[in-house]
Amino acid sequence: MGSSEDRTSSKHIIFVGLMGCGKTTIGRELARLTGMSFLDMDVLIEEQIGKSISDIFKHDGEAHFRSLETALLRYLLEESPAPTAGCIISTGGGVIMRAENRELLRRLGFVIWLDVDVPILFERTARTNHRPLLQQGDAQETLRKLLEVRAPLYAESAHLRLDTSHMEIPDAVRFVKEASDEYFQA
Ligand code: S3P
Repeated sequence: MGSSEDRTSSKHIIFVGLMGCGKTTIGRELARLTGMSFLDMDVLIEEQIGKSISDIFKHDGEAHFRSLETALLRYLLEESPAPTAGCIISTGGGVIMRAENRELLRRLGFVIWLDVDVPILFERTARTNHRPLLQQGDAQETLRKLLEVRAPLYAESAHLRLDTSHMEIPDAVRFVKEASDEYFQA
């Protein structure tokens, strides 16, 4: 994990990790527990552009989607009000693909990588069909390859890696709450 040298006054809690790792579920529960606002970057992009993620990938391409993610991170960083007004932010699984985004993420606050075993990710993501990267070929193999490429990038982006493969959601939420309290107090 990267050091905390780049710590800023921004107090967001940001979840990164592969599709199906629980960023939204754990993020929402943490928001409920703390009273903080919850933001889902995919949803914000869909609302802003007026298209689903699948349509953005299909009509504009993945590179364009990545640019939208960068623009949103910049907006969140620059428009953040007082340091006390931290939000919980769920990112899209590929946000770490751009070096610029990795740097922006760390400047935004405390970044947690939810690391989950591929068979569990596969089982969870197989229930839905809104993720363009998993709609063709062998989705489990795709997840395995994505993890191989992305694991070092998640590690570089995150202040904390948490393997939640065998953790209950309330336990993961409590763990993240304690870790983020500690991070922001230090
Ligand atoms: C993607 C993950 C998705 C979404 C898009 C691309 C990825 O978000 O941003 O389909 O590249 O891993 P979730 O991780 O929230 O499913």
